[in-house]
Amino acid sequence: MIKYEDCVFTLQAGKLCYQMMIDKHSKLLHLHTGSEVKESTSHLLSFADRGFSANIEEEGRERTYSYDFLPCEVSERGLGDFRSSSILIEAEDGSITTDFRFESYSIKKGVIDIHPLPMAYGEDAETLEIKLKDEKLDCFLILYYCLIDNAIITARKLIAGSPLSVRKLSSLSLDFMYQDYEIMSFNGRHCYERQPLIQEVRENRITISSRRGTSSHQANPFIILAEKGTDEVHGNCFGVHLLWSGSFQIEAERNQFSSTRLIASAEDEFFTFELKKGETLTMPAALLTFSEQGYTSLSNDIAAFTRKHILRLPKEYRNYVLLNSWEACYMDFNGEKLIKLAKDAAELDTDLFVLDDGWFLGRNDDYTSLGDWQEDESKLGMSLSELSEKIRKTGMAFGLWVEPEMVNEESNLYKQHPDWALKTPGRKLVRSRYQLVLDLSRTEVAEYILETLKKLFRGKNLSYVKWDYNRSITDFYSATASRENQQSVGYRYMQNLYWILYELRKEFPSILFEGCSGGGGRFDMGMLCYTPQIWLSDNTDAIDRLDIQFGSSYGYPIAAFGSHVSTCPNHQNGRITPLYTRSTVAFMGSYGLEFTPATLTESEKAELKSEIAEYRKQAELIKKGNLYRLRKDENIAAWLIVSNDSKEALLSAVKLSTHGNDLDYCIRLRGLEKDVIYEVAGQHFHGSTLMNAGLKLHFENKEYSAFRLAIKALQ
Ligand code: DGJ
Repeated sequence: MIKYEDCVFTLQAGKLCYQMMIDKHSKLLHLHTGSEVKESTSHLLSFADRGFSANIEEEGRERTYSYDFLPCEVSERGLGDFRSSSILIEAEDGSITTDFRFESYSIKKGVIDIHPLPMAYGEDAETLEIKLKDEKLDCFLILYYCLIDNAIITARKLIAGSPLSVRKLSSLSLDFMYQDYEIMSFNGRHCYERQPLIQEVRENRITISSRRGTSSHQANPFIILAEKGTDEVHGNCFGVHLLWSGSFQIEAERNQFSSTRLIASAEDEFFTFELKKGETLTMPAALLTFSEQGYTSLSNDIAAFTRKHILRLPKEYRNYVLLNSWEACYMDFNGEKLIKLAKDAAELDTDLFVLDDGWFLGRNDDYTSLGDWQEDESKLGMSLSELSEKIRKTGMAFGLWVEPEMVNEESNLYKQHPDWALKTPGRKLVRSRYQLVLDLSRTEVAEYILETLKKLFRGKNLSYVKWDYNRSITDFYSATASRENQQSVGYRYMQNLYWILYELRKEFPSILFEGCSGGGGRFDMGMLCYTPQIWLSDNTDAIDRLDIQFGSSYGYPIAAFGSHVSTCPNHQNGRITPLYTRSTVAFMGSYGLEFTPATLTESEKAELKSEIAEYRKQAELIKKGNLYRLRKDENIAAWLIVSNDSKEALLSAVKLSTHGNDLDYCIRLRGLEKDVIYEVAGQHFHGSTLMNAGLKLHFENKEYSAFRLAIKALQ
């Protein structure tokens, strides 16, 4: 519901309320974000004669009205707001002051179209469009607010009436007048992504950012801003996601009068986008979510929203259980070996075989061949179509790995088009994993990649494509961009990447695209709009995975996590864990295998087969249920998934420490109906007993043992 009354806009998206007002100077002030309010909250604004606060000319001799402390919907430089700006523009005369004032507004049905930038979908959406104008620049700024279910999606567009250099145009900017806040960010590294970090928001600005050209392993374009003291079940908290997969910055700061500002922007501090008269720039969308009841309910709302409004599952979607060839044989294979692997996997009742890296011209190690997307028939001993056919005969669907944004110097593509790689003229090459990044900001390069992939995918009977990306962008320099356009290469790159993915999905609607960037280096809402599943991490160790899965679950649905059982000792850290534990952890996502089944003993094979059957039984609950992070410390990790009607649940736990004469552990469940009776391992308990007293976790007394229990309502 969008209401406009007495210069106040009140947006009510389910439980999230957002309020702004047009002030006496036609500037837009931000009044409220949070639980419902019924009238204007402008009574909370403060006016005072504050030392060193500036006043705009219209205020005459009045010294109490200053943008130094008023909460601003668009925070600008030059008018007395010294906090971080959400818009930075350099005018033709070199000045950087902007002054956008209200012009008009309109309300429309549906979401906005910012194609190919990622956007949520939803038939019941409603959009408020506010038009602001800077007279001197002759420039319009359009603010979009799309209300969908419990969320608001914001986006911003500039329409230039004179030449401008846009340095920053944030997707979302929030000012909170009162309360103390903490910000939870999700940092990490390759093989250890999205580890939660909570910081108090104080006077010194906190910036969470990536300058890598991808959202990255090191940071994530998702944060939670929470009132101090928020925990899993208490407290007001806000989720902010950028629907963007490139560099980004999210800034949080408190000002001298204890109000808090949060700004989320695509691209980093080097971004500059040149606009000529009449040209427009649209920045990516941001998703704002809210809970009054702590992190669990926020995460479950985000997960439900993502499943309903972000993920576009392919036509005839199946809950595949896959086997991926990577950790089974890396690049050391031929066609016969792959077919044997597929046959063995089929005997375990997996139903999709994924051929990972190593299948194309001369690709036997990672020095060569990226860019040459043609099968190596001499290595495979057959064409890719024949291989696909043979794999299908084992009863498995067929999937293929590609890394289309990259090129090796040792490739036909690089020999023909050395200028297609991003590199700085007059400087030595900067390689990572021996590869360079193709300059997708160039239309001809993007078109070439699209056409090459279309040709590759046609006639191969593909059910799945794993889209990998294995380095960060170091030098953002395009051989054909003008000097003034070099600083927008990252933005244009990302736009064309989304366009390619969109076109491919259109031509191949039945293919399930799984995103990947050395595991979870591009795990974000932007990518999820195009690849509804993403390989969560290159780390397949069950114990490390618990950290990565728990961290990722704050902002993303587990349905989107690619999650595999691999061999022991684990290839990333050498750890040995029981098969049941590896499987229990892989249950928290889209299940798969990542090793050679022939290395298993007969009893392990039987165990894995029964695990796969059990996963299939539970897949609907796992992918659509609510997740409760029950406990995670040095002794125990425990989590619970409960169906939306609370009739079914799956409790899982892993023991992280082992001692002689060990303790018993008891865990209280959540999300059940207190008066309903549940069956648990043959015993009957009321929901209230399970939630208020708890259940004992019966672990086997050995290192890293796991415990899993299905819970069902009687009736
Ligand atoms: C990184 C991925 O995350 C791995 O799963 C695998 O596909 C390799 N790349 C292949 O090069």
